[in-house]
Amino acid sequence: MASPTSFLSIFLCLVAFLFITVSADPDMLQDLCVADLSSGIKVNGFPCKDAANVTSLDFFSQGIANPGLTNNTFGALVTGANVMTIPGLNTLGVSLARIDYAPGGLNPPHTHPRATEVVYVLEGTLDVGFLTTANRLISQSLKKGDVFAFPRGLVHFQKNNGRVPAAVIAAFNSQLPGTQSLGATLFGSTPPVPDEILSQAFQTTPRIVKNIKSRFQPKK
Ligand SMILES: *[C@@H]1O[C@H](CO)[C@@H](O)[C@H](O)[C@H]1NC(C)=O
Ligand SMILES: *[C@@H]1O[C@H](CO)[C@@H](O)[C@H](O)[C@H]1NC(C)=O
Repeated sequence: MASPTSFLSIFLCLVAFLFITVSADPDMLQDLCVADLSSGIKVNGFPCKDAANVTSLDFFSQGIANPGLTNNTFGALVTGANVMTIPGLNTLGVSLARIDYAPGGLNPPHTHPRATEVVYVLEGTLDVGFLTTANRLISQSLKKGDVFAFPRGLVHFQKNNGRVPAAVIAAFNSQLPGTQSLGATLFGSTPPVPDEILSQAFQTTPRIVKNIKSRFQPKK
């Protein structure tokens, strides 16, 4: 039988665990820790490169200065400005992205497991929305200069229903927010999710599931 003190320690561990899981990226323990992206060492984030080798370029990017190419299936492109392109963001708990939308373009329903997102509309108009865990749709039409927030982990999307291109700058409270796009995750995974799982989940036939899967072939 467990003693009252071991119950107490289990309780305290659970409380600590909850605090860890409700916070965003961990707090930094030093001024900077520029990611050594080539290191073979695996940690939560990236190991720091030698401080003597840190330069301003580690904190700099021109990667989202210009519109991204939107001539793809969905007519939208997300260009990250995160720790993978700005190694100085390692341990800082923030990043940006630029998203460009052709007329009619859609950033399809997806989630960011590690970050809340705030978008600022650079140009054009967008219809955006997110879904709560109670399956309520919270949606809004945005125009140039508007700001909208998508809470961490909730499924959300942006659609350009206008006649001209649109673009946003997105801010995240994570150095690498991660993205799970529902269509690609469920219908384009490797190895594939079995057809009968998806046909039962979506209350449809394996034939229709196969048809959707054919549109989400994993990129080779
Ligand atoms: C720092 O940079 C120098 C010169 O490029 C290189 O020789 C050295 O290996 C680097 N140190 C580390 C720890 O990466
Ligand atoms: C998109 O446009 C660029 C530049 O015009 C072109 O190089 C590229 O091949 C196009 N991609 C597709 C998928 O059509």
